Amino acid sequence: MIDFSSFLQPLSGEPHVVIVLGKGGVGKTSVSLTIASELSELSDTLLVSFDPAKHIMEYLDLREPMKVVKVRGRLHACQLDIDLAAKEITSKYVDLLNEILPSLSVLNLEDVVKTMKYAPGVEEEVFLKRLLDIYRRSEFKYVVIDTPPTGISLRTLALPKLYMIWVEKLIEVRERIVSLRYVIAKTLGRKYEVDDPALKKLYEIREDYKYLNEVLKDFSRTSYVVVANPEPLPVHEMKEVISFLEGELRVKPKLLVLNKVLPKEVAVKLGVYEQQIKYVNEVGSMPYKSIMVGYLSNAPSKLDDIVKLKEASTVLRGGG
Ligand SMILES: Nc1ncnc2c1ncn2[C@@H]1O[C@H](COP(=O)(O)OP(=O)(O)OP(=O)(O)O)[C@@H](O)[C@H]1O
Ligand SMILES: [Mg+2]
Repeated sequence: MIDFSSFLQPLSGEPHVVIVLGKGGVGKTSVSLTIASELSELSDTLLVSFDPAKHIMEYLDLREPMKVVKVRGRLHACQLDIDLAAKEITSKYVDLLNEILPSLSVLNLEDVVKTMKYAPGVEEEVFLKRLLDIYRRSEFKYVVIDTPPTGISLRTLALPKLYMIWVEKLIEVRERIVSLRYVIAKTLGRKYEVDDPALKKLYEIREDYKYLNEVLKDFSRTSYVVVANPEPLPVHEMKEVISFLEGELRVKPKLLVLNKVLPKEVAVKLGVYEQQIKYVNEVGSMPYKSIMVGYLSNAPSKLDDIVKLKEASTVLRGGG
């Protein structure tokens, strides 16, 4: 029996956010739930699912997305609904645009909102806004995040850095406009309101992304857990995630989980024993703490099933 969360120590910084990454179907939701359930024994914990597949709702019998529901003891859960959250965000943007750039009201902004949820980048924006809220305002000591498929998760985690560069450029342009307006107004002897709402908003956005970029890299605020199965594509994606974390964010994963490792007899029968050994060795020799979880004949599907997941676990590398 293994405590997954003991591998994540120290969990300082509050709230401490655990981000669980990996290919579709490898067991991210099951691992997220295991970690969240363990952490809730220590303190108030929220499990948030960013995964559009909403499996957590079945796992925990959640009825409504977007609501924080108390599951058991100090464990709480919330399923994000991209469409609902995107609507919320885009209508806020419309209000903001109407306020700071009223000249734009010639466009029918309501129509823009309706179609904006299909725009590229909206899903990522929803996740980032949610993350920001979690780091800044969460009343929970621990927050565990069950992520969507790898591609979108990595894109999202990379965005704050990219946005900072864009916003910096926009600020430069806006500052030039504001100072030109000021000069013109002064030359013409007119009064000019120096406070520019658009510029103020841009400064705010820059602060937000700067903060997010910092906390995502901060070992004391964020732990990354990467899950794979002993198969070629899941392990390939695990390596991709690790090289992203190390290359882009300059952080190391705290824990690797190799899930659904078949019993020897079964693996031999299926002709995958050699392959399985190869991936167990490969993951076990990576310089991070790692655990291996056996394949359960009854797929876990309820909160109580995670005990079996823990019982089927052994240490590959590092202590708990
Ligand atoms: N150790 C295990 N043994 C057997 N079945 C497992 C194990 N771990 C998870 N499963 C099952 O595998 C399926 C996928 O697991 P899970 O939903 O946790 O993965 P996921 O990575 O979150 O998937 P998705 O990308 O679809 O959200 C589920 O049916 C789950 O019950
Ligand atoms: Mg899932």
